[in-house]
Amino acid sequence: MERTLCIIKPDAVKNGFVEEINNLIIENGLQILKSKRTKISAEIAEEFYSEHSEKPFFTELVEFMTSDYSVVQVLQGYNAVINYRNLMGATNPNEADEGTLRAKFAESLSKNAVHGSDSLDSAQREIDIMLKIFD
Ligand code: CMP
Repeated sequence: MERTLCIIKPDAVKNGFVEEINNLIIENGLQILKSKRTKISAEIAEEFYSEHSEKPFFTELVEFMTSDYSVVQVLQGYNAVINYRNLMGATNPNEADEGTLRAKFAESLSKNAVHGSDSLDSAQREIDIMLKIFD
């Protein structure tokens, strides 16, 4: 069994897609172990996305992720990392396959509805960072 970190981002929360997204996650064979609706702090967002700190979109990314409520979740299942990444679709919703979460719910590259860990190592790191918010 693997675990992965999922964030339903502020655009999807504001647009009322949380339940629909979670139904698709469960239908895809993943269990939602933890779930918290929270406003992510700048400190956590900066640490979480630190690999992008030199990218031109970093400030926009942190501002967006801290702008309103997100739903932060730990998912568990067989091949959870790749399973959930396949369900999410490509980062850019214009490139996401039909039926994927980003094709269905994302507004743009920055407001792309959901985040998911890209590897088992990232999943462990991201879950560790977010453990603070589940306390
Ligand atoms: P996510 O999977 O959360 O990981 C990093 C995020 O940065 C990504 O989704 C996008 O929302 C965002 N991102 C990636 N590239 C760009 C870009 N060129 N401009 C704005 N945001 C971006």
